[in-house]
Amino acid sequence: KEVFLKDYKLPDYYFDTIDLDFSLGEERTIVSSRIAVTPRVKGSSPPLSLDGQDMKLISVKVDGNELKEGEYHLGPKRLTLSSPPLDSFLLEIVTEIYPQKNTSLEGLYKSSGNFCTQCEAEGFRKITYYQDRPDIMARYRCRIEADKELYPVLLSNGNLVEQGDLEGGRHYAIWDDPFKKPCYLFALVAGKLKSRDDSFVTCSGRKVDLRIWTPEQDVPKTAHAMYSLKAAMKWDEEVFGLEYDLDLFNIVAVPDFNMGAMENKSLNIFNSKLVLASPETASDEDYAAILGVIGHEYFHNWTGNRVTCRDWFQLSLKEGLTVFRDQEFSSDMGSRTVKRIADVSRVRTTQFPQDAGPMSHPVRPHSYIKMDNFYTGKTWHTVTVYRKGAEVVRMYKTLLGSQGFRMGMDLYFKRHDGQAVTCEDFFAAMRDANNTDLANFLLWYSQAGTPFVRVTSNYNAEANTFSLKFSQEVPPTPGQPVKEPMFIPVIIGLLDSAGKDMVLSSMYHDGTLQSVEKDGQPVHSTILRFTKKEEEFVFSGIKDRPIPSLLRGFSAPVRLETDLTDDDFFFLLAHDSDEFNRWEAGQVLGRKLMLKLVGDFQQNKDLVLNSKFIGGLRSILIDQSLDKEFIAKAITLPGEGEIMDLMAVADPDAVHAVRTFMRKQIARELKSELLGVVASNRSSEEYVFNHPNMARRALKNKALAYLAGLEDPECHELAMQEYKSATNMTEQFAALVAITQTASETRDEVLSDFYNKWQHDFLVVNKWFALQAVSDIPGNVENVKKLLNHPAFDLRNPNKVYSLIGAFCSSPVNFHAKDGSGYEFLGEVVVQLDKINPQVASRMVSAFSRWKRYDETRQKLAKAQLEMIVSVNGLSENVYEIASKSLAA
Ligand code: ARG
Ligand code: ZN
Repeated sequence: KEVFLKDYKLPDYYFDTIDLDFSLGEERTIVSSRIAVTPRVKGSSPPLSLDGQDMKLISVKVDGNELKEGEYHLGPKRLTLSSPPLDSFLLEIVTEIYPQKNTSLEGLYKSSGNFCTQCEAEGFRKITYYQDRPDIMARYRCRIEADKELYPVLLSNGNLVEQGDLEGGRHYAIWDDPFKKPCYLFALVAGKLKSRDDSFVTCSGRKVDLRIWTPEQDVPKTAHAMYSLKAAMKWDEEVFGLEYDLDLFNIVAVPDFNMGAMENKSLNIFNSKLVLASPETASDEDYAAILGVIGHEYFHNWTGNRVTCRDWFQLSLKEGLTVFRDQEFSSDMGSRTVKRIADVSRVRTTQFPQDAGPMSHPVRPHSYIKMDNFYTGKTWHTVTVYRKGAEVVRMYKTLLGSQGFRMGMDLYFKRHDGQAVTCEDFFAAMRDANNTDLANFLLWYSQAGTPFVRVTSNYNAEANTFSLKFSQEVPPTPGQPVKEPMFIPVIIGLLDSAGKDMVLSSMYHDGTLQSVEKDGQPVHSTILRFTKKEEEFVFSGIKDRPIPSLLRGFSAPVRLETDLTDDDFFFLLAHDSDEFNRWEAGQVLGRKLMLKLVGDFQQNKDLVLNSKFIGGLRSILIDQSLDKEFIAKAITLPGEGEIMDLMAVADPDAVHAVRTFMRKQIARELKSELLGVVASNRSSEEYVFNHPNMARRALKNKALAYLAGLEDPECHELAMQEYKSATNMTEQFAALVAITQTASETRDEVLSDFYNKWQHDFLVVNKWFALQAVSDIPGNVENVKKLLNHPAFDLRNPNKVYSLIGAFCSSPVNFHAKDGSGYEFLGEVVVQLDKINPQVASRMVSAFSRWKRYDETRQKLAKAQLEMIVSVNGLSENVYEIASKSLAA
């Protein structure tokens, strides 16, 4: 049942208002809805088809008259009224549902005894019969009734308008949301919860009550989430002029949640791990993730809720844009360069491989079998719709400038507030507000695959010109054999022999001499608009041969190949004014070196590490003028996945061996500097979440990881000391990771010490699972199997599955073990998991999707598992789509 973008049709009926009534119970929950329906074309009454599944229909009424069988048709996934009235009418439906049995965690379900909902993308159809599509926007009123003792708190979207007690120990609350919304933004929560309360006064003086709800014992851990929320509200006013629009904003944290969080109107629901934090239990990364995701969901209030998507193909309209906004928010709250490096690494290590494999699809896909797969995880659609989508939004800003981008956003809201729109509408707002021609920019939404850009440079000493010849190629992807050239913005600078940016004033392009000045002033960097298959840009007035710094800040999501030499890259590493490109120069050198050593390893040659490379790392490491977190990133080698992605046949054993060798060699040669870094970056001060402190911890932890990898007693002892003396999770966990990376006598002891310390805290226990699951220690699959039976493990909780199974799949050596044990293990787990939670199962099965990248033996083993999976009776569409597409490619 594949759905296609080109088949979009306007709905035949609109829903103007909906009154929902929930009677929550332990055995059954009764849902009654009253919907005001209007036909799109008056006087015509085509059948009205409503989505709905996994529930019992009790009654259907039209204008107060109960319909008899025959007047409607009920299938397993829909309810159809054969001939509705010709004009507006009232539709009343009563259904019975069983949230306590709902392990899929979509629709209405129970998490640790509380009721909660997840409706995006298509979960509302598990609550009641409805036109479950985002272009049906209605005004909601919601009455919730439940046992007062078990569920003292009753929440839904909008404003609380009434509440009171009922007979039999029950009570009720009525919520009214003044903003029209699609049903995917509906939410309900009922449970034993306590809140942290605060408030925010908006720029126009509206006082907004802010509440973050959790079980009582967790309330102290919500301080950082509240700080993040207030910072996000302020930031959106300052940067985008966007103000919150209700008097109340609620966030609820639940332990069982498929994804990170959900932007339901005024009632955001979060995975606990993205709300709860204390210095003792959460790491710097956790704190940063909370800041980013609290921001993300809050920002959706305008980019997603006030202006939403016409259909699910447009998902990137809200997600690409909102990811871009949360990235900018985090940059402004911390270090812009470091944030950019992290985001680019993520695109490169997850999206690029996807774009080169069987799951490759455009930012706006053309078809799908199961919508949820658009969100499913790091290894599947989110990376393209969300991450590449955010890169596309960033390119508008690059091309139009901050002001121009803001004008485009303003126009977008002016035109589309209250509407369900498309990616073209966003494009048109950007274009029209700036009165500019964005050429074939829209191809970024429709063409899949990562463009491959080649640059050759030439300096002409007589003419004082420097030429850059660009060519591009977009590789074929499933269903798209032939591609057009894309519009690629390339930010560049030219370094002189002292490493300073040259002044740029004019260049030849398209046969004419063009000024590259800005506001009449010469510039130090400029944006080349590269739109054709091949194109040349020639800078004039260049007195010396420059070293070009290309694609600064990663100004477009492309793979870049240049004719620069290693010496050029060492020069850029030492001098580029664009810090992102300084980091990038080191990564280019690292990638080249690793690939070369992998070749040596495969030919059984001795491995030797280039001393110039170590020298480059040393000078970064001891450079006091650099940001410490930047240093930590710059001395980190490209990941194993990234290198495998660059090989014709991925060889996990060789890549792992080489990276381990390089890390040891670096640690050996830089031992005294690294020891110095650890010593000088200790601090006994209280934990603070701010950039300088995080940067200090990041650098110290990176140094410790290198040292502990040496397996020498002195370094091992150092790591043990750090572990014992740490007063926050960031440092304690980093020390634990450092100690346990290799097999040692103390490994098991420290692991059980950590577990004993933290067994009462499920979020910390998840870190403990993940740490063991990713381990490179040979034969680790046996340990992971044992952990499946650990009392703290539970296949029904997504976080635990991601920690243990997900982390295991990211271990190159053990998941890809040549005897097939890793694949077999995953195959079994996916089948089991699919019966419990198809969304989580499909995230896990996507670990197989790149099976063709490996050698024949591994291919055979992985393929056998995929075949076994697709042959399972009653397999979910979620898993089927990914497994079958993987096999077909
Ligand atoms: N819209 C949410 C976000 O971007 C993602 C929720 C998707 N959840 C799901 N189960 N499909 O944060
Ligand atoms: Zn989102």
